[in-house]
Amino acid sequence: MIESPPYRLEEPEALESPSLLIFRDLLERNLEAMIQVAGGVDRLRPHAKTHKSADVIRMALGRGVRKHKCATIAEAEMLAEAGAPDVLLAYPLVGPNVARFVRLAAAFPATTFRATVDAPEAARALAEAACNLGRPIPTLVDLDVGMGRTGIEPGESALRLYETVAGLPGLEPDGLHAYDGHVNDPDLATRTRDAQDVEALVLAFRDRLTALGLPTPRLVLGGTPSFPVHAAFHAPGAECSPGTVIYHDHNYATKYPDLPFTPAALLLTRVVSRPRAGRVCLDLGHKAVAADPAGARAFFPAFPDARVVGHSEEHLVLDSPSADRLRLGEPLLAIPAHVCPTSALHRRALVVVDGRVVDEWEITARDRHLRF
Ligand SMILES: Cc1ncc(COP(=O)(O)O)c(C=O)c1O
Repeated sequence: MIESPPYRLEEPEALESPSLLIFRDLLERNLEAMIQVAGGVDRLRPHAKTHKSADVIRMALGRGVRKHKCATIAEAEMLAEAGAPDVLLAYPLVGPNVARFVRLAAAFPATTFRATVDAPEAARALAEAACNLGRPIPTLVDLDVGMGRTGIEPGESALRLYETVAGLPGLEPDGLHAYDGHVNDPDLATRTRDAQDVEALVLAFRDRLTALGLPTPRLVLGGTPSFPVHAAFHAPGAECSPGTVIYHDHNYATKYPDLPFTPAALLLTRVVSRPRAGRVCLDLGHKAVAADPAGARAFFPAFPDARVVGHSEEHLVLDSPSADRLRLGEPLLAIPAHVCPTSALHRRALVVVDGRVVDEWEITARDRHLRF
């Protein structure tokens, strides 16, 4: 048995490694805590990229979470298939993905599919593809509020883009999307100030749209680090879109101790070699645990002083003064540093309740292409 509170695993010897394990009670607690931080489900739009799992979506739907966000067509399809009534695909649609998105919307008329755009040519391409859909696609303008990844700065060009969206027959202006991944200071006071600056920027831009008579029904804001701040922001239509909170991971748990979430998705790994004194090699290569971020890939509750000295496709090499007490074949639990890219490496997850594997879930949207 592995006992490492809050984790307990009976008979780990019988389980294959490397395996993704979901501690279901902790996952449920994270879902409840997410709803509580958001003050209810109405202003919550969690991101499905963290888990890509229809089972998790059904658990969220069962708790009344109706609005969802995703990054891929496969995730959008998984959400619709699981019965999500409101799906925002917050990723630039270009190339064949434009037509895929519209085909998906046509195939699931009971789901409202929303899109984001950050360029007029993207808006026009989406509108053109949607012209035979029979209903306009609610489209948010993606604002670059400081991260510098996607989006358009909230200035004159963004105003013109919003007007373009409002004027295109296949689209319906649906508001603003602002992801603030750059708001990540460990200090809550600094993070709060930075996230409030984002809110102020978005509100000021919305005021300009309102002055032009343009409707902005929703503002979709942020991820996990800024979640508690945006949850307390009660501007009309404001929604929060954290993702990691659902599984949570070691990075966020150590960097943001103010957040009430616990890592619920772990890895089962084994010592596959003891090449020299003070060193072990585990079956946790970067095909089993994400190589993102640089540095520690995972935390080992039973082996906290372990230092990563090598990571290749199938091997993770750790040095520690206590490495020699680990025997060959010994099973260990690992908390991924970054859970979102880690869960996407696995086709299935073993679901653990009261220390026992009770179920197996498919990582539904792990693949880029499902049916559409
Ligand atoms: C656009 C967008 N929204 C929301 C999120 C969720 O952020 P987090 O992982 O911090 O919960 C992400 C994460 O990458 C994202 O890219």
